[in-house]
Amino acid sequence: METDHEAVPLNLADIDASTWRELETAASSPQSAFRFLNLCSVDAEQRPQARMVVLRRADGSSRVLEFHTDTRSPKWRELSANPRVTVLGFCAQTRLQFRLRGTVELHASGSDQANAAWDKLSTWTRTTYAGGPPGDDRAFDAIDEAAPSKAVDEAKGKPHFGLLIFRARTLDWFELCRQDNRRALFTYDATGALAACRWVNP
Ligand SMILES: Cc1cc2nc3c(=O)[nH]c(=O)nc-3n(C[C@H](O)[C@H](O)[C@H](O)COP(=O)(O)O)c2cc1C
Repeated sequence: METDHEAVPLNLADIDASTWRELETAASSPQSAFRFLNLCSVDAEQRPQARMVVLRRADGSSRVLEFHTDTRSPKWRELSANPRVTVLGFCAQTRLQFRLRGTVELHASGSDQANAAWDKLSTWTRTTYAGGPPGDDRAFDAIDEAAPSKAVDEAKGKPHFGLLIFRARTLDWFELCRQDNRRALFTYDATGALAACRWVNP
């Protein structure tokens, strides 16, 4: 599918700005490759753990990305113990890889932030939090053709809904380009301002 990707700029500040514009756009466009990102945490045994998540919101001025998850999931436990994460994405069309390192804040059900995010979810999305704990053995209800289908109570999901707010401290930007791969590193301060940037060997 054709999408309007900007030509990759040469100037480092422009590359930084265009990366965050791309992420902001991706948060609201299901066709964008960066709509789905790999969120990598470290578990209690110091093993890396990776999984895909949907990018729900991006803010280039504060260098923040937002994700949603179930607070009963292993990732929630891992992130509660160690909030340091890497977020990885790749777009086959532009051949760009973004590798962001930073920390996550966890906002569980009942917090203002989680409530506000929950209020904006569709009914269908809310029901995805209403099932059993993620990763537990699946308990299938006995099929009873005669019984009317049981509507899933979306409110049941709310206590399990969690919001992850990721703040990037570094961006490792990589462009795959046959003869001339390019790579640049960006560092952000605690407010999200660009503190340093440089080209590095790919
Ligand atoms: C394309 C895609 C998008 C996904 N988005 C999310 C998401 O936004 N939040 C989430 O918790 N899990 C999402 N998942 C499921 C996770 O990848 C993962 O399987 C699940 O959350 C369990 O992860 P954990 O055992 O590490 O906690 C997604 C899976 C796929 C394939």
